[in-house]
Amino acid sequence: MSSRTVIRGGLVVTASDEIHADVLIEDGRVAALAASGTPAAESFTAPRVLDATGKYVIPGGVDVHTHMEMPFGGTYASDTFETGTRAAAWGGTTTIVDFAVQSVGRPLREGLDAWHAKAEGNCAIDYGFHMIVSDVNEETLQEMDLLVEEGVTSFKQFMAYPGVFYSDDGQILRAMQRASANGGLIMMHAENGIAIDVLVEQALARGETDPRHHGEVRKVLLEAEATHRAIQLARVAGAPLYVVHVSAEEAVAELAAARDKGLHVFGETCPQYLFLSADDLAEPGFDGAKYVCSTPLRPREHQAALWRGLRTNDLQVVSTDHCPFCFTGQKELGRGDFSKIPNGLPGVENRMDLLHQAVVDGHIGRRRWIEIACATPARMFGLYPKKGTIAPGTDADIVIYDPHAEQVISAETHHMNVDYSAYEGKRVTGRVETVLSRGEPVVEDHRFVGRAGHGVYTPRSTCQYLS
Ligand code: URP
Ligand code: ZN
Ligand code: ZN
Repeated sequence: MSSRTVIRGGLVVTASDEIHADVLIEDGRVAALAASGTPAAESFTAPRVLDATGKYVIPGGVDVHTHMEMPFGGTYASDTFETGTRAAAWGGTTTIVDFAVQSVGRPLREGLDAWHAKAEGNCAIDYGFHMIVSDVNEETLQEMDLLVEEGVTSFKQFMAYPGVFYSDDGQILRAMQRASANGGLIMMHAENGIAIDVLVEQALARGETDPRHHGEVRKVLLEAEATHRAIQLARVAGAPLYVVHVSAEEAVAELAAARDKGLHVFGETCPQYLFLSADDLAEPGFDGAKYVCSTPLRPREHQAALWRGLRTNDLQVVSTDHCPFCFTGQKELGRGDFSKIPNGLPGVENRMDLLHQAVVDGHIGRRRWIEIACATPARMFGLYPKKGTIAPGTDADIVIYDPHAEQVISAETHHMNVDYSAYEGKRVTGRVETVLSRGEPVVEDHRFVGRAGHGVYTPRSTCQYLS
C-alpha cells in the first residue's frame, strides 16, 4: 500500500533554489514539487497534509562527522547511536556519517563490524560510516579497496595522537596512494601530534595543568604545518584530500592556496570554531574542560577567516565532530592534567540551528546554509541526490523549519546524552518543527515520534564533489 504525504505552502530551500512549492511524498521519496497555488500543486492529495505556511521546507541535515560511543582517553563518547541519532533528528539532521575505528593491529573489518553492531537497530535516522585507519599495512591497504566497494568510501587518518590513532608521513602517503587508486577520500586530522606532545610535556612540567593550556600547546602553526604537509603528500599521491575540523586562519590559508592551484583539496569546519573561542577554554576553575576538543578552540580573531572561507568555498562543509563527554565523571578525568581530558564536544543537535543563526547574522545566505549543511556533505561523501536536496526521486528526508521561532540552547532542554551544553544560554532564531525521514515523521510539532531502528545503514558511492 502506498503512503503519501503533502507538505503545503512552505518556502522550499535547497542549495540551488528557493521556491514557494508544495511537495508530494510517496513511498518515502519525493514524488513531485509544484508551485503552491497552481493546479499542479492542488492536484497533490494525500491522507497526511502538513501545513508549512510561513516556514521553510529544507532537506534534512547531513552531518558527516560524528563519533557515537567512540572510545577516547579511557572512556566512551556518551551518546549511543540511539540517543545521538534521536538528538540529531530533534535538531533537523536526518543522516549522519560516523567513524568506525580500527584498533591498532586489528583488521579494518573488525572495527567496521563492531560499528555496524553498535548502530544496527538503534538509529532514528539513516547512517553511514567512514573508517578510521590507525594502522597502515599491506592488509589494511587491501581492505580499503573492499570497503570502498561496499560503500565505506572515506578514511580518516590522524597526524595527531601519537600512540593512539597516529599515522606517520609514510603511512599517510601509502593510504593516499591507495585512495587515489580505489576512489576513496582521505580525511585528515591535521595537527603535528609529535610536536604537540613535546609541548604538552613541557607545559605539565611547568605546572600548567588547566584546560586552557590544551589550546595553548596545540598551536595554530602546528595545525597549519600539518595541513600544508597533508596537502603536499596528497599531491605526491595524486589523491584528493578532505581536512576535518579546520579551526585556524593559517590552515584556511593553506587550503585556499592549494585550491588556487586547482588541487582537489577540501575543508570542513564545525560550529564550535565559528561560535566559541579560546575564551571558553579559559573559563575559571575546571569549567574550560567542557570546551576541550582537537583541533582546539582558537582566539576569536580566527572566526572571521572561517566565515570567509565558507563564503568563498575554500571551506565546503560544516559538520559537528559530535563527540560528547559528560562534565561529571568524564571531562573530570583530566582534573590536574589537561592532557587527560577526553577530547570532544557535543553538538549534533545544534548544527542546523546555529547555521541558521549565521544566516540571520548575515554571515552566509540561506541557500549556502543548505549547501554547507546538507547538499555538499552529501556530494562529498557519495550520498547525493538521495540525501541533501529535495527533488523528484530523492529520499523524503525533509525538515519544516520555523525561521522566526526563538529558542535558548540549554542542557535542560537538549536531547543529547550529555550533562552540559557548549552553547548554554545562547539565544537563536529559528527552530525545527517537523522532521521526516524517508517520509516517516520523526519529529512532529516539537514531539519525537520516531523510533530506534527506523534509520538504516546507507552505503555511499565515492566522492561526487570532484567532477
Ligand atoms: O576533539 C575531538 N575532535 N574529538 C573527536 C576525535 C577527532 O579528532 O575528531
Ligand atoms: Zn580529528
Ligand atoms: Zn572527529
